[in-house]
Amino acid sequence: MKIFPEKIRYKDLKELLGKFYKRWEIEKEEEIDFLIKEITQKDEVFFILNGEKHVDKDILKKLELILLERKEKKPLPYILGYSYFWKNKFLISENTLIPRKETEFLVEEALSLVKVDGTILELCSGSGAVIISIIDELKNGDVKGVGVDISQDAVRIARKNARMLHLEDRVKFICGDLLKPIKKEFFKKVILIVVNPPYISKEEMERVNIETRLYEPKLALYGGEDGLDFYRTILNSLRRVGYLNPISFEVGYNQFEKVLKLGENYGFKVLNFRKDYLGYRRIITFRRKNGEI
Ligand SMILES: C[S@@+](CC[C@H](N)C(=O)[O-])C[C@H]1O[C@@H](n2cnc3c(N)ncnc32)[C@H](O)[C@@H]1O
Repeated sequence: MKIFPEKIRYKDLKELLGKFYKRWEIEKEEEIDFLIKEITQKDEVFFILNGEKHVDKDILKKLELILLERKEKKPLPYILGYSYFWKNKFLISENTLIPRKETEFLVEEALSLVKVDGTILELCSGSGAVIISIIDELKNGDVKGVGVDISQDAVRIARKNARMLHLEDRVKFICGDLLKPIKKEFFKKVILIVVNPPYISKEEMERVNIETRLYEPKLALYGGEDGLDFYRTILNSLRRVGYLNPISFEVGYNQFEKVLKLGENYGFKVLNFRKDYLGYRRIITFRRKNGEI
């Protein structure tokens, strides 16, 4: 299907794409600049100097194919097969979530907590964007990362991402159910655990935006009836294995108080928290209360 006219000048491209987004009710006009830059590989200066020139045919073809998928509400990162997170580009697939901007606060929190060498464990690691970004920042010393995800395809993608950044020797990925694949002995090496679990409740699942509902994996979103299943299971398991170092979670915008109470019930105290761009408390770090093990 052809949606573009034969010839388009560089200076008209943004307006034209904007019209399609409006017509198809895609409320993400802010991604148009990104899309144009990504596909043309040209910067603003080029557009200023070459506005009257016609866009190359192969670029138009690529854009047209992308727009036809975007029309069906497929999120742009799934069409491109990648997304940007923290300081790098990460491959994603239909079995991984699109890494969210607010999850970068989990990276920030981890970097503020790591003071000694050892292993950082990430549960629910998806594309690996979080643990890879953390390890990539920790260039000095000897800090390693291990990610665990239940999706075999997510683990495959995460391993590819680690290889792309030449971090495959420092970050390993295991396929499994939360803490089940981890031996008790291993926790002696773990200096920090980070988790961005599925946390959407049953009720909220019915209200997630259409792009997420149609394309993002339910396995990465649904956190049980009240959205808190993963926090419960993880905190309970950590209590049983006697893990004493910090654990940082991302929580839903309305879950901070609930997760805090849960943590306290399982014998953890809050070490720190972080707010997201909108002022919601989205990262919570716990540690076991002294002497309770
Ligand atoms: C919110 S997403 C995390 C996304 C990740 N931060 C990223 O950037 O890709 C939750 C992840 O938990 C994984 N997951 C769901 N149930 C799991 C389980 N029982 N054990 C391990 N991982 C699980 C999903 O496959 C998904 O990748």
